[in-house]
Amino acid sequence: MKSVKDKIVLITGGTNGIGRIMALDFAERGAKVVVWGRNPEALREMEEAGRSKGRFIKAMGCDVSDRAAVYRAADQVKKEAGPVDILINNAGVVSGATILDTPDEKIANTIAVNTLALFWTTKAFLPDMLARNEGHLVTIASAAGILGVTGLADYSASKFGAFGYHEAITMELQKKKTAVKTTLVCPYYIDTGMFEGVKTRFPLLLPILKSENTARRIVKAVLNNRRLLVMPSFVRNIFWLRMLPASLFDGTIGFLGINSTMDHFTGRKQ
Ligand SMILES: NC(=O)c1ccc[n+]([C@@H]2O[C@H](COP(=O)([O-])OP(=O)(O)OC[C@H]3O[C@@H](n4cnc5c(N)ncnc54)[C@H](OP(=O)(O)O)[C@@H]3O)[C@@H](O)[C@H]2O)c1
Repeated sequence: MKSVKDKIVLITGGTNGIGRIMALDFAERGAKVVVWGRNPEALREMEEAGRSKGRFIKAMGCDVSDRAAVYRAADQVKKEAGPVDILINNAGVVSGATILDTPDEKIANTIAVNTLALFWTTKAFLPDMLARNEGHLVTIASAAGILGVTGLADYSASKFGAFGYHEAITMELQKKKTAVKTTLVCPYYIDTGMFEGVKTRFPLLLPILKSENTARRIVKAVLNNRRLLVMPSFVRNIFWLRMLPASLFDGTIGFLGINSTMDHFTGRKQ
């Protein structure tokens, strides 16, 4: 397991859900953690959480859907903290409605936050990693980036995008023969509140994941330079299920109840 002592770890969306838990875990391990988010109260609370434990957590306001804001915030991080060692692209949003019920602005925002932002943060921080021949890019995608689900058209599209971005970047880095590492994370639903109301038909095979455990497994995967983390591992079956004829594939996904998981989605209460 690699050490993150005094390493700079930047987590987008590090003020809530699994991002927050990962931030505290990395800080506990001696890393200098920078979190980005929009909610000023949540940002203040993160810095306070770091201070109260004697750990380094710097919380910065940055809307990752705003390309100029990402580049500005990245410059500030480099000036004030130094080059980023581990970049965790974690910020995410979900609309949670069928395509015709999702306003255009929500669709555009989902793609901007869940997909496009990965490009801006990578362009901001990867050059330093390449120059130093060390670093780690982590993408929090989703099981919905492996399988399209009713009620998640924009979200699934954005996470398939995240998956594709991540795989291509990994190939680019391999071709460059750099020591920069990558980790792709594809979790099923997690109990953070983002997907409040979702139901799973076979909880033994496809449980709603616990946020604390999920975040800690992601941290461990990063420390072990693991390439791919799919949670729960049953979700990996989707890769080979795709070899079935389309009707059999659809029937299996329907039987597993995956296509009905969003039927009672409410999302996080504001
Ligand atoms: N929860 C699940 O079931 C699940 C399953 C699979 C994958 N994932 C993925 O895992 C990641 C974390 O999910 P979570 O459940 O922990 O989410 P969460 O609890 O809703 O937290 C999302 C974080 O993203 C930040 N964020 C949202 N929009 C942003 C923006 N435009 N700019 C900067 N920060 C922004 C939020 O902070 P502010 O609101 O303050 O900006 C918050 O800190 C996401 O990428 C999500 O898609 C989640």
